[in-house]
Amino acid sequence: MFSLTYNAIELPAYNANILRAMLGLRVVEKHIEDLPADSLLVRMDAAPCNPSDIAFLIGGYNVIKPLPAIPGFEGTGTVVAAGTESQARSLIGRRVSCFSQSATYGTWAEYIVLNINQIIPIDDRLSTEQAAVFFVNPFTAFGLFELAQAKNSKAILVNAAGGRVADFLLAFAKKHEIKTLGIVRKSKTADSLIQKGWDSVLVSTEENFKESLQKKIDEMHVDIAFDAVGGELTGLIAGCMPDDGELVVYGGLSGKEIGGIDSIPLIFRELHLKGFNLNRWFLRAGRQKIAEASLLLTEMLLSGEIDSPVTIQVKPEEIVKGLKHYLGSMSEGKMLLRFT
Ligand SMILES: NC(=O)c1ccc[n+]([C@@H]2O[C@H](COP(=O)([O-])OP(=O)(O)OC[C@H]3O[C@@H](n4cnc5c(N)ncnc54)[C@H](OP(=O)(O)O)[C@@H]3O)[C@@H](O)[C@H]2O)c1
Repeated sequence: MFSLTYNAIELPAYNANILRAMLGLRVVEKHIEDLPADSLLVRMDAAPCNPSDIAFLIGGYNVIKPLPAIPGFEGTGTVVAAGTESQARSLIGRRVSCFSQSATYGTWAEYIVLNINQIIPIDDRLSTEQAAVFFVNPFTAFGLFELAQAKNSKAILVNAAGGRVADFLLAFAKKHEIKTLGIVRKSKTADSLIQKGWDSVLVSTEENFKESLQKKIDEMHVDIAFDAVGGELTGLIAGCMPDDGELVVYGGLSGKEIGGIDSIPLIFRELHLKGFNLNRWFLRAGRQKIAEASLLLTEMLLSGEIDSPVTIQVKPEEIVKGLKHYLGSMSEGKMLLRFT
């Protein structure tokens, strides 16, 4: 009979105070007693912390696991064992990028049990740092950018432009000669984004932000906006969009309800307001498109067209140090938990 003991990070309780939630994390021993027929056992190399993990720790995400729970939704590792099904067994030995919202398992652990829909085999030339963050943000940007292409947009607006999804959106926009307007909350982030090649970046905390935003949207002919912040800023962006403009909300970093949407532009300019969810995109996309996107994203990473910055790598017992570092400098890059 199969049996494995491994270490995992465990969250004993959700806490709305992120510092308290972090301080509750501990490294514990877990056991796997069974590998179902279609399952893959992945020995994890690394897993990042994303904003969704932070939202999860505070009990503010759409995934609530029974407690105690193993956090972590994505990461990378190698398939080291599988159940009895031949398709699963054919993957033994493959390096994979993985994603799981399982109640029992999480990626912040030495091992995870997955099924084939939760992994993407990766090119061996991708580094551990690139592979650990391959599943979520690159495909999100791919799915979002499809919306701009469907609209034949000449310029896109991205709120929270300092993040990794935004990096990939910038890379796609450059590839297709589409102009980029970013919004950030700190002026030092704006400076670094201009260096990276954004056409224009506005700081949401600066005076006359609304007027500057309206001017740039008009000048650059922005007709689609991607917002990861929410709160009143979404309403402000909505009010600046042109006729038939599209506003896609893909994150809620402010933790606040969307507000301030004036009904006049919504009605008379026929503004489209929609959400984007990567899980649903994967279901809509199907295997062929996912494989094509995977190839394209791999090429972009290997050619250096896009970077996956990691600012700190920590062992499981150093998780609090890693999380504090990430929360203090999100625009600079990810924190990776290392298991190998
Ligand atoms: N819908 C989906 O399926 C999907 C999939 C993937 C990601 N997402 C979402 O996409 C967003 C970005 O993720 P990511 O991994 O790219 O982020 P990231 O690389 O970790 O960076 C986060 C960025 O957001 C900024 N930020 C954080 N809190 C903010 C706030 N309250 N107001 C304004 N800006 C804030 C940070 O700026 P500072 O440096 O100033 O802190 C940083 O530039 C997240 O909301 C995530 O949940 C959604």
